[in-house]
Amino acid sequence: MSKIGETIFSFFMPRVNLMGAGSAKTVGEQAKKFGSKALIVTDAFLAKSGMAEQIVEYVRKAGMEAVVFPGAEPNPTDRNVHDGLKALQDNHCDVIISLGGGSSHDTAKGIGIVAGNGGHIRDYEGLDKMTQPMLPLIAVNTTAGTASEMTRFCIITNTDTHVKMAIVDWQCTPNISINDPLMMMDMPASLTAATGMDALTHAIEAYVSTLATPVTDASALMAIQLISKNLRQAVANGKNFEARDKMAYAEFLAGMAFNNASLGYVHAMAHQLGGFYNLPHGVCNAILLPHVEEFNLIACPDRFVDIAKALGENVAGMSIREAADVAIRSIRQLSKDVGIPSNLAELGVKSEDLRIMAENAMKDACSLTNPRSAKVEDIIKIFQKALICQYGELKKYSEATKTSHSHGRHGAEVHGDNEVLTQEIA
Ligand SMILES: NC(=O)c1ccc[n+]([C@@H]2O[C@H](COP(=O)([O-])OP(=O)(O)OC[C@H]3O[C@@H](n4cnc5c(N)ncnc54)[C@H](O)[C@@H]3O)[C@@H](O)[C@H]2O)c1
Ligand SMILES: [Fe+2]
Repeated sequence: MSKIGETIFSFFMPRVNLMGAGSAKTVGEQAKKFGSKALIVTDAFLAKSGMAEQIVEYVRKAGMEAVVFPGAEPNPTDRNVHDGLKALQDNHCDVIISLGGGSSHDTAKGIGIVAGNGGHIRDYEGLDKMTQPMLPLIAVNTTAGTASEMTRFCIITNTDTHVKMAIVDWQCTPNISINDPLMMMDMPASLTAATGMDALTHAIEAYVSTLATPVTDASALMAIQLISKNLRQAVANGKNFEARDKMAYAEFLAGMAFNNASLGYVHAMAHQLGGFYNLPHGVCNAILLPHVEEFNLIACPDRFVDIAKALGENVAGMSIREAADVAIRSIRQLSKDVGIPSNLAELGVKSEDLRIMAENAMKDACSLTNPRSAKVEDIIKIFQKALICQYGELKKYSEATKTSHSHGRHGAEVHGDNEVLTQEIA
């Protein structure tokens, strides 16, 4: 472990990122810089919806050939990756375009990784296992969202263990990301809500991460502000261009934050739910988020005050403890407003599976940067709360921390009745 003052922080993102209405039209011109025949990796719905056809048209207009691979399933699997690799090789494609949300981008990254490095996608689980670059990838994003179109993360389900593998490698960052809000206008309300809460989770987990820096903080706080101001509107009226546009920026900013500061227990636990039950990633995150952050609160209460403010809450005159508690309630309110189910039981999660999922969550790479370190029993307790909690039942932070003390952010011991928590906020 490095000494204080000796940790080197890095900042990764694609070299070129195109944003704004109409940016998707340039995909052919962008892809032409890297090859002459594109494999368009997407999912079955987008392949049928006309969106994939639109991309094929843009690519052909630029003088390139295109083949569509519609095999990215939700929570994409190692099988999806190897089916896509076969399509790529059979059709002699030399560039990949992903079209869709996180599932399409992650499948495309997986295909590009194995095409460039050989072997099996499972060989690349963990940090920086690639020795060769992946095939060039242009990611056209349609949800707001996972930010996978601009991250170095590739999340693939291992079909033997049902665990979502985290492949974290700077070499699987897409060459170009495209975020065109016009591609997001037809998202149904439930998908808008789930993917928007995923983006909020990215921003919050990155902001309280042990690897946060002023650079990731700036991105995370702006993302939280934009989400709190625009997610409800985008859910209420999908045709609200302004809200869609701002959500596209928000998910991208949240990506800038977590791509570098990484995540925490929310994602470590949500990955287990996704792998075990094939549940929507954003919904799992949204349900877990307030419970995990309630657990994290005593590690970095001042950070939760910032989060409360970024969520638009007026915390003037409150103690740090009260204001931090407001952040948790505000997250919960947003989830409720956008129609996220109140607990995991509503999604069919069974209490008998919690222990194995908690054990696996502790091994997930995302758990390494959580601000408060937990034991398996703590993770089980968080799962149990999230399993049955109803909206409005969250315990007040002051009650939850009356007697607790723990090892906090960067290992410092933090007491629930710490004097700093009772200082008033100006
Ligand atoms: N690599 C990363 O950095 C990263 C980060 C977070 C999550 N993820 C992963 O991303 C996956 C989730 O991705 P997601 O939440 O974007 O969903 P998704 O890609 O699984 O898509 C969900 C559904 O939405 C549909 N859809 C997508 N765009 C649409 C649009 N514009 N209009 C209508 N329907 C549309 C798809 O066809 C699909 O049926 C999970 O596997 C998760 O683990 C990856
Ligand atoms: Fe996520």
